[in-house]
Parts: sequence; C-alpha cells; structure tokens
Amino acid sequence: MFGWLVHKKGKIMQICTLILAAGKGTRMPSANPKALQTVLGEAMLSHVYQTAAYVSSSVWTVIGHKAELVEKHLNKEFGEAAGSHCVLQTKQLGTGHAVLCAMEKIKDSIDVENTKILILNADVPLIKKELLEEFIEKAKDYPLSFISLLLDSGQNYGRVMRENFRKNVQHAPIKTHTENTGNVAQIIEAKDFRLAYPGSEIFEVNSGIYLVDAKVLLEYLPKLSNSNAGKEYYLTDIISLAKKENIPVEAFCFENAKALLGVNNPLELNQAEEILQQEINLSLMQNGVVMHNPQSIRISPFAVIQRGVEIFGPCEIYGKSEIESFTTINSHCVIKNTKIGENCVVQSFCHFENAAVGNNAKLGPYARLRPEAKLADDVHLGNFCEIKKSVIGTGSKVNHLSYIGDSQVGSGVNVGAGCITCNYDGKNKHRTIIGDNAFLGSNCAFVAPVKIAKNTLVGAGSVITKDTAENDLAIARARQVNIKKR
Ligand code: UD1
Ligand code: CA
Repeated sequence: MFGWLVHKKGKIMQICTLILAAGKGTRMPSANPKALQTVLGEAMLSHVYQTAAYVSSSVWTVIGHKAELVEKHLNKEFGEAAGSHCVLQTKQLGTGHAVLCAMEKIKDSIDVENTKILILNADVPLIKKELLEEFIEKAKDYPLSFISLLLDSGQNYGRVMRENFRKNVQHAPIKTHTENTGNVAQIIEAKDFRLAYPGSEIFEVNSGIYLVDAKVLLEYLPKLSNSNAGKEYYLTDIISLAKKENIPVEAFCFENAKALLGVNNPLELNQAEEILQQEINLSLMQNGVVMHNPQSIRISPFAVIQRGVEIFGPCEIYGKSEIESFTTINSHCVIKNTKIGENCVVQSFCHFENAAVGNNAKLGPYARLRPEAKLADDVHLGNFCEIKKSVIGTGSKVNHLSYIGDSQVGSGVNVGAGCITCNYDGKNKHRTIIGDNAFLGSNCAFVAPVKIAKNTLVGAGSVITKDTAENDLAIARARQVNIKKR
C-alpha cells in the first residue's frame, strides 16, 4: 500500500500518519516519557512508528513532555527524517489540541483535499500493520472514522455512544457489535461517563485510532472546547461536532483485538509485554527455533532469529539482533543489536551490544562485547573478557580476563590471560595493532598507540610501549632476582 489508497470516487488519497506522543504519562511514573517506555526492549513509540511507516507516505510525531529525548530517540532509531517530522506541543492540553498543533504545522506541506490523516496514540505497542491495512480499506470512503473495541468492561477508555442504544438495550443481552448497529453519536471519555447513560452495559470503546480527512480535522479541531471533567481538548469530541453537521462518521468494531490495548500504567505494560512475548516466541518456534523455557525468553520484534537456533531461557535478545542457524545461546545472556553467525556457542552470562560475530565462534561464559566489537570466524572469547571497538581476526583466542579496546587483532593470535590494551591516556583514545599469529603471554599491558608485528612473541608480564618487528621476541619486565630470605 505504501501510503496511497484509492478512494471510492476514483480519487487517490495520500495517508499521512500522526502519532501522539506528547503526554507525560502520569499513570506510568518513570524518568522517561511514556512513549519511550519499553516493551521487549523497544520504546512503545518505536513499535508504533515502525508499523505506521508501512502504511503511510509520511509519519509525524507530536512531542511535548521531555520532547528532546523523544526527538533524539526517533533520530537514532529511524533516521533524521523521523526526527525532523516532529511537532512540538508545548503544553499538553489534550489529544485534540495535540492534533491541532500538528495540523497547523503540516497543512502547508500536504495536499489538504487529497490527504487522509491516520491518527495513532504512541501507547499501542502491539499494533499490527495488517490491522491498520484492514481498517484503512474499510474506512477509506468515510470522511471521519475510527476503530472501536468491544471489551468486558469500560476501563479507562472513551465510550462509544450510538444513536439507538435504547432500542438495542430492550433486546438484551447485547454482546456483540452486530446487535448494536446504531450510528455513532459521540464518544464520552471515561472521566465524563455516567453509569446512568443509556447503553452503559455495552462496553464498546474507542481504540484511539482514527482515519480522518485532513479537511475535516482542519475544520473541526479549532471548534473543540475543554469544558469537560479532564479540562482537556479531547480529540474524541470531533465526532459529535462533525455529526451535528451531517458529516458521516463510522466506527469499525474490531471486537477485543489485543493489538489495540492502550498502555497507560505498569500493569498494562506488563500485559502488553507478555502478549507480544508469547506471539513472538510462538512464531519463532513454529519457524524452527528451539526454545527451552520460552516463558523466560524475551526477543524484540525487530530481531531476526534463524531456523535451527537453540535458546535457553532466561535470556534477552533485543533490537535488530540477528542470529544465524545452529547457533546456541545459553541462559542469562543479554544480546542487543548484535549479529551472530552460524554454529556459534554462546555460553551463559554473556552481554553483547552493537557487535558482530562471525561463524563457529565460542563465546563466554561471562564475555562482554561492547559497541563496534567485530569478531571474525572461529574466534574464541572466554570468561571475563571485554572487547570494545576492535576487530578480532579469524581463529584468534582471547580466553581469560582480558580487555581489548580500540584495537585491530589479526588472525591466529593468542591473547594470554589478563592482557590489557591501555587505550586511554586520560584525554584521548589510541589504537593497538596486533599482527597475525602473534602470541601474547599472560598479563601483558599494551600502551597504545603501539604495533605488534606478525609472529611476535611477547613475554608474560610485559608492559609494551614500543612497536615490534616480525618474529621479534619482546620482553619488558624486570629480571627476577632470587635472594636468600633473612
Ligand atoms: C485516549 C482517548 C480515549 C481512548 C484511548 C484509547 C482522548 C481524549 N481519549 O484516552 O477515548 O479510548 O485513548 O487508548 O483522546 N497526548 C498528547 N498530547 C496531549 C495529551 C495526550 O500527545 O495533550 C498523547 C499521549 O502521549 C498518548 C495519547 O495522546 O500517547 C493518548 O493520550 P492518553 O492520555 O493515553 O489518552 P487516554 O486517556 O488513554
Ligand atoms: Ca492511553
């Protein structure tokens, strides 16, 4: 679809998405704005943004509370275009006000007559592109439409009020939307809803997802008022405003679609995370990924795990990690944005972030890969070894208690226990180069910048400050003296 849809009268309309992410999230106490609260390691906003990008030609995000953090996040995760498509809502006066701010900013960059605005809240992390596509297909001929849900209770959602509730109520019990076919009259927010209202036993609620002609928004948003229990400009009030002027409004009921769960508090966050975790793990197992204790395995929807991978929980694999076939990940590992090749064994308690590993590697237990660590094929990395911004060549071994930072290590190198690259002089970082087949004895310090040539043998306990030539034996330590004890 990619953001274009064909209107009934043959007119081609463009879809522009607005994600509302300016709210503070008062029901979710956290140092981060609610939109950045994570579900399986990804900000809720990222889940929504990624899905929105599939169905729209442009995505705009309304930011407000801790706006700089949200903008920075979008820049980092989705590129500068995402960051520059932010609209600042300086005061969070309500969802209607948020959309108004956005429309004022974007109206000159869109073709108002031929644009439909898809509005999403940032707090629906389970949203799926198929669901949005289905909604758009159903809703494309209506100037103003939204998705409603049928729940077992109203919770804190806005309640969908239909014109012939009364009539329907006489035919109780009313359970499904099909028995409740009156036209939508208005949405009443939870705070303003009274049990005495007709139809209050029908829990048809607003999902917060709308498809509206840009023209309709521009006409009705400025007419919203904030005379309600929340003293906010509710976006939901445009329904009754438009209805009064005979604009057709339609609600498409998606029953109790879990994908539309709004996440407003820690409990709902946990529910959303569990639902998504089950979906992802089920689909991975169906595709041939072996999981032991899958209830404790958390995998980002953005990660790619190939058939034949075996994972032992508890374990977390986040971000755009990729794991190739027949690799085993043992328990208690945290892997973020890291690619791991085929036939590798990752022992327990490893932490990897923004790194890459070739095929047939043996890693851990307790190994750490920090950003820009790149391991070629057949590398062994043992316990308590940390690699940062370094390349480790084919078949090299760093097996015990080492730190390799800002380095280039050739192939076939043996890094003895306790070797350290001293890459930081207090002000700047410097590089260490270690040639192929070098053998570094235990407990050596390499004071960068320094180059160890191919086939160098470095004696244990050396502090290396000078470059070596090929086939050198380098020793830099005080000679041992044995004297008689007194
Ligand atoms: C909203 C709907 C409600 C619906 C529910 C679905 C309104 C008035 N209510 O309620 O009918 O059932 O979603 O989940 O729209 N935001 C801003 N600026 C603001 C206020 C909010 O950008 O001034 C953003 C928030 O960051 C959030 C989204 O809008 O992402 C929705 O706000 P929230 O407070 O969660 O609304 P609900 O009470 O859940
Ligand atoms: Ca919400």
